[in-house]
Amino acid sequence: MSRPRITVVGSNMVDLVTYVNRMPREGETIEAPRFEMGFGGKGANQAVAAALLGAEVTMITKVGDDLFGPGTKKNFERLGIGTTYVRTVPGVGSGVAPIFVDPSSRNSILIIKGANEHLTTKDVDEAKDAILASDMVILQLEISLPTVYHTIALCAKHEVPVLLNPAPADPSLDLARVSTVTFFAPNETELQALTGMPTATLANVKAAARTLIDRGMATVIVTLGEKGSLLITRDADELVPAHRVESRDTTGAGDAFIGCFATSYIESHDIGKAMQRANRYAALSTMKPGTQKSFLDRAAFEAT
Ligand code: RIB
Repeated sequence: MSRPRITVVGSNMVDLVTYVNRMPREGETIEAPRFEMGFGGKGANQAVAAALLGAEVTMITKVGDDLFGPGTKKNFERLGIGTTYVRTVPGVGSGVAPIFVDPSSRNSILIIKGANEHLTTKDVDEAKDAILASDMVILQLEISLPTVYHTIALCAKHEVPVLLNPAPADPSLDLARVSTVTFFAPNETELQALTGMPTATLANVKAAARTLIDRGMATVIVTLGEKGSLLITRDADELVPAHRVESRDTTGAGDAFIGCFATSYIESHDIGKAMQRANRYAALSTMKPGTQKSFLDRAAFEAT
C-alpha cells in the first residue's frame, strides 16, 4: 500500500506548558508544580500525528528568525516531514503558546501567532505542486483567513480533498468560502462560535452541525472529547463513542484526532473506521503529558 500523501498548510508554535494546581487570581502569585516546553501549533501537531502514523507529509508554514525557528524545522526533519516550504520570516518571532493544564487534565491555551501570520497566498502558490500531488490537504485557523480561503479555492479547482479543522474558534470565518471542503471538523466550542447555537447536549450539537450541512458542507465531524465524535452528512448522523482512558493532559488531543483521521481515511476510505481509529489515537495521546510528545507512532498505536 502506498503511503498517504498529506500536505498541511498551517501553524507551528512552541508550547510553554505550565501544570497548575489552580489558576492564580488577579494580583496573586502562586507556585506551580511543573513546566515543560515542546513543539506544538495545531498545524504542526496534525502533521506530526500523520507522519508518525506513516503518512508522507509536507508542511507549509513560517517560523521566526529566533531561537525557536531552527529547532522547529529540525523537529520536522527528524520526523521525516518535508520542509521545502518551511520558511523563515526575518525580524519576526516564532509562534508561541503559553498553556496551563489543571489537575483534571483540562487545558487553557493562549497563542501568539508570530511568524504564522506571515504565511501568505504567495507561499501557497509556491507550494502548488506539493498541494496538487496530495491525497488530502489539512488546514486550521492559526494562519490568516485569506491564506485559508486561497488554499481551499485552489484545492477545489483541482479536486484535491481538504480537511478543515476550524480551530481555534473564529466567528468571522466565512462559511460560504470554505463550503467546498471534503471534511469540516470543529469541536463543540468552535461549532458554537460558528453557528451561534448552543452545543451543551448531543441534540444541540446535531442541530448546530446540521445547519452547516444546510449551508453547503458535505461532511461535518464534530469532536466531542470524552463523548467521542459525531458524523453528520445530509442523510445520516452517527456518534462514534470515545475510547476510555485515564487522561493526564488533553493538550493536542484534537490535533491527534485530525492527523489520525486523515491518514486512516486515505488508507481505508471508510469514514466510520477512520473516526474510530482517530478517537482511540486522540484518547491515547491524553495519557501522557505534552502535545506532540504524547503522540504514538504507528507500531505503538497498533500494539495498543
Ligand atoms: O491544539 C493544541 C495546540 O494549540 C497547542 O500545541 C498550541 O500550540 C496551540 O496551537
